Amino acid sequence: MPKKLNIGMIGYGFMGRAHSNAYANVSHFFDLPYTPVLKAACARDAEKAQAFANQWGYESVETDWRKLIERSDIDAIDICTPNNLHKEIAIAAAEAGKMILCEKPLAMNAEEGAEMVAAVENAGVANTVWYNYRRVPAVTLAKQLIDEGRLGKIYHYRANFLQDWTIAEDIPQGGQGLWRLDAAAAGSGVTGDLLAHCIDTALWLNGSLDSITAMTETFVKEREHALTGKREPVKIDDACAFMGRFKNGSLALFESTRYARGHKALYTLEINGEHASIQWDLHDLHRLSWFDHRDESIVRGWRSIHVTDHDMPYMDKWWVPGLQIGYEHTFVHHVADFLANLGKGESTSPTFRDALETQHVCDSILKSAANGSWEKIPG
Ligand SMILES: NC(=O)c1ccc[n+]([C@@H]2O[C@H](COP(=O)([O-])OP(=O)(O)OC[C@H]3O[C@@H](n4cnc5c(N)ncnc54)[C@H](O)[C@@H]3O)[C@@H](O)[C@H]2O)c1
Repeated sequence: MPKKLNIGMIGYGFMGRAHSNAYANVSHFFDLPYTPVLKAACARDAEKAQAFANQWGYESVETDWRKLIERSDIDAIDICTPNNLHKEIAIAAAEAGKMILCEKPLAMNAEEGAEMVAAVENAGVANTVWYNYRRVPAVTLAKQLIDEGRLGKIYHYRANFLQDWTIAEDIPQGGQGLWRLDAAAAGSGVTGDLLAHCIDTALWLNGSLDSITAMTETFVKEREHALTGKREPVKIDDACAFMGRFKNGSLALFESTRYARGHKALYTLEINGEHASIQWDLHDLHRLSWFDHRDESIVRGWRSIHVTDHDMPYMDKWWVPGLQIGYEHTFVHHVADFLANLGKGESTSPTFRDALETQHVCDSILKSAANGSWEKIPG
């Protein structure tokens, strides 16, 4: 029988739901040494927290995250709050000896991130950060193909994350729904929100970045603040682009924006190697495009691999070949890996320390954009 792992969930928004779904379903599909128990949900509004707990099957609610952390019947704290709360909650949870699953970006900046790494490593608690796109089976398959050397030397890594939901000037900043537009809650704009995903995937697939140069833009300079009702300067980046060099000698070209009319969540990546290239697109997440120059010329071309066969990552746990899975499954895979690694006494990548590297790249991007400089990535 698997051992029980009691989860304390903080936040009931987009990610609170995505993670709760993963905890609720993971043991139906994966054989694991631990099974998650939805022990307590925490949010400031008792009525809303109770409604969330009822809908998802949490046994109890708390309205103060500190109380949740103090509870002896909670094994793991899941942080699904806006970014400005990650550090305080994570450090308190680590000091109380709880395991931590923290949403991305790890922190508001690398300085905070370093304190969080020290806290979990000093406490010796299992930890992970929910950069979930690593666990899209097509992206995991890309990692396998790269690690097997099938692409040969890598020349280029290109990634985009494009959205269009903040173009209207009358959208306020701050508050419950729009904390992403408020630098005090989010830390940064698209850099930490969108590009951080692309950076995490890139560091995993292609290794560390050496140096970068970036530009950012804030197209709408003032917005009404939802909490104060006043028009206030917008301090987040609406768009960000950077180029750089990876330590393996390949070139990086990355862009993210919330002003690309027509695009809702277009995360794409392309890697060009000596022998072969890979493309992936979140809108078609179950496919991996593959071009191999070593194919005979008369049949050479881009292949669209439908990532559903049982010898492909994670897919033996789901349905029969040909039937695809989606976005929510990436969180199930993350939980499954976390629980499997827990059985071996290990943390799950990306750990807090792994995510700190992404945070350093984000900080360097913002510094470069402010100064017009090339920045060496620390560490
Ligand atoms: N991995 C991903 O793909 C992904 C996607 C979206 C968001 N995120 C990250 O997840 C985190 C949450 O984002 P979201 O989209 O779920 O936001 P959201 O606005 O939908 O939900 C945030 C939740 O935090 C709660 N909250 C705020 N302050 C609190 C407090 N003091 N105590 C308890 N609860 C509090 C809110 O009530 C709300 O339920 C952010 O760090 C974000 O960057 C990651």
